Amino acid sequence: MTISCIGLCKICFLSSVIFCAFLLLLIPKFQNPWRPRNYPQPHPPPPFNASCKSAIPLQHVDSSTTDHLDGEGNDIAHAMKDGPIERWGDYILGTGRSSMKLKELDGSPSSPLHVVPKDHLGPTTNSIKENLDLKDIFIAVKTTRKYHKTRLNLLFQTWISQATGQTFIFTDWEDQELRLQAGDHMINTNCSAVHTRQALCCKMSVEYDKFLESGRKWFCHVDDDNYVNLQSLLRLLSAFSHSQDVYVGRPSLDHPIEAADHDQKDGSMTVKFWFATGGAGFCISRCLALKMSPWASLGNFISTAERVRLPDDCTVGYIIEGLLEVKLLHSSLFHSHLENLQRLHGDAVLQQVTLSYGGPENKLNVVNVEGVFSVHQDPTRFKSIHCLLYPDTVWCPAIKML
Ligand SMILES: *[C@@H]1O[C@H](CO)[C@@H](O)[C@H](O)[C@H]1NC(C)=O
Ligand SMILES: *[C@@H]1O[C@H](CO)[C@@H](O)[C@H](O)[C@H]1NC(C)=O
Repeated sequence: MTISCIGLCKICFLSSVIFCAFLLLLIPKFQNPWRPRNYPQPHPPPPFNASCKSAIPLQHVDSSTTDHLDGEGNDIAHAMKDGPIERWGDYILGTGRSSMKLKELDGSPSSPLHVVPKDHLGPTTNSIKENLDLKDIFIAVKTTRKYHKTRLNLLFQTWISQATGQTFIFTDWEDQELRLQAGDHMINTNCSAVHTRQALCCKMSVEYDKFLESGRKWFCHVDDDNYVNLQSLLRLLSAFSHSQDVYVGRPSLDHPIEAADHDQKDGSMTVKFWFATGGAGFCISRCLALKMSPWASLGNFISTAERVRLPDDCTVGYIIEGLLEVKLLHSSLFHSHLENLQRLHGDAVLQQVTLSYGGPENKLNVVNVEGVFSVHQDPTRFKSIHCLLYPDTVWCPAIKML
């Protein structure tokens, strides 16, 4: 009896030892080498177009371009001293901009572009220059029925005459005279002629689709009260490549706009972004335009605009900065009628990319050019500018070159 009891105790003891050894094996630090890890890995979002160069490498050395609109005088003094090419030579390649999150903007309301000294970057900075031809650019002019005779005729007489193959007129009425003049470069958007958010977004949506269809490298949008200096535009865009993410124009505010995104499941979320004012014109590279497609093509632009309840140019900024996280390049070479245009004078006038003139409420807000037509003969100053840029134009008076 006692023997079998001792035997039983031995068996109990041995099985406890074996059980403890088994428990030891279950301790995680011993487990790791044998069990494959099976945690979910974060996936980067798939690129919309794998052939697009990774984003947005342009950074600015001189923070003056991000000045508010009141800083006009300074900007112009700059342009006169250095010329637009040098200014844009200051935009240089860097890396990692695309990974900047919206919230990082909060800390630096006036300067979303990081300041990077030029010599911190290698020789790759020179490789962005691209041999660009005017025919690579798609210039969309947004107009409406009531301005065909007045505003549009002036543009045809001046800058459009030098870019008939590049310019496309987006309007809201089938005008036979305009059709004869512009042929299939007049696009009747069939959008409403009223000046509402929906009508404006409708036109932008058609502009975007026509640009993609055209296969060109650059999309530039201007209004029917803009003069486009084609050589300046070409010089500006040549500093970049169309296969980079480029969105360039003049911000209309000196701070990013905040908007409520109404598409969020848990109520609305606030988004903060810069946008280029449509009244001064802006340009977008083809690569970036293709990435915008899920929110901009085939009528999606209109539903995106509804989502943020903002006008056309703000919606473009929302898609690019808010959704694609590509930064607007702030340029002081674009001008709208909302600025004090009289501050622009001398040679600087001829170096800007776009110009404008005061609306009906402010007819005297025009740029300063002298020596061609009087303000009475040429109230918008566009004819005088055109004659200074293209003195051989038949209707230009002989100009004494200083
Ligand atoms: C991707 O980009 C290339 C070059 O820009 C273009 O030719 C091609 O059509 C694009 N593909 C898609 C699916 O958009
Ligand atoms: C506008 O309507 C006309 C006539 O129905 C059509 O031919 C044209 O393609 C439409 N325009 C656009 C941009 O859809």
